[in-house]
Amino acid sequence: MTEEKKEYLFKVLVIGEIGVGKTSVIKRYVHQIFSQHYRATIGVDFALKVIHWDGDTLIRLQLWDIAGQERFGNMTRVYYREAVGAFIVFDATRASTFEAVNKWKNDLDNKVTLPDGRNIPTVLLGNKIDQMRGGLVSNKQQMDTYCKEKGFAAWFETSAKANINIDEAAKFLVGKILENE
Ligand code: GTP
Ligand code: MG
Repeated sequence: MTEEKKEYLFKVLVIGEIGVGKTSVIKRYVHQIFSQHYRATIGVDFALKVIHWDGDTLIRLQLWDIAGQERFGNMTRVYYREAVGAFIVFDATRASTFEAVNKWKNDLDNKVTLPDGRNIPTVLLGNKIDQMRGGLVSNKQQMDTYCKEKGFAAWFETSAKANINIDEAAKFLVGKILENE
């Protein structure tokens, strides 16, 4: 007799301003690599991460790496379709990219929902934390309040360069997505 294995395919969006490190976070997570060299994403790129969640659950995470410049275009409605989770990324060293988080979140919530009408689970990432002395820790309380107000499931400070918190953030988001299955 063979055990029944559960298999899932989850579409997850990665959005946020230009140059915050969306592609770098994905490359670190999926391929364990990092490059200092900046090459802007055009439109959208894709990556697939296979997760052996537990003994009888296999998850295929289809990551949609959406160019920061798409916030000014009108393709996001098409790209967001049928997503079940999202990361919104900002650059912890550039305040303007945090200020834009709200616009990305609103765009997301206006254009995609779960079949039952709820917003898709979304995790906020403050990236490039390797360049910040002390990190965002001094604003921890403020960040918690902000996330609660704006409807983020959680926030993490991350570094694609130093490999900080990326696996943890992904694990958290996948856990949230599974709760909706
Ligand atoms: P768009 O595709 O234009 O939207 O940008 P993006 O968000 O995909 O940014 P990308 O991953 O291309 O990174 C932009 C620049 O930031 C690159 O030079 C990366 O090497 C650098 N970078 C990304 N993540 C980190 C990080 O965690 N720490 C540091 N120090 N640099 C990073
Ligand atoms: Mg990119």
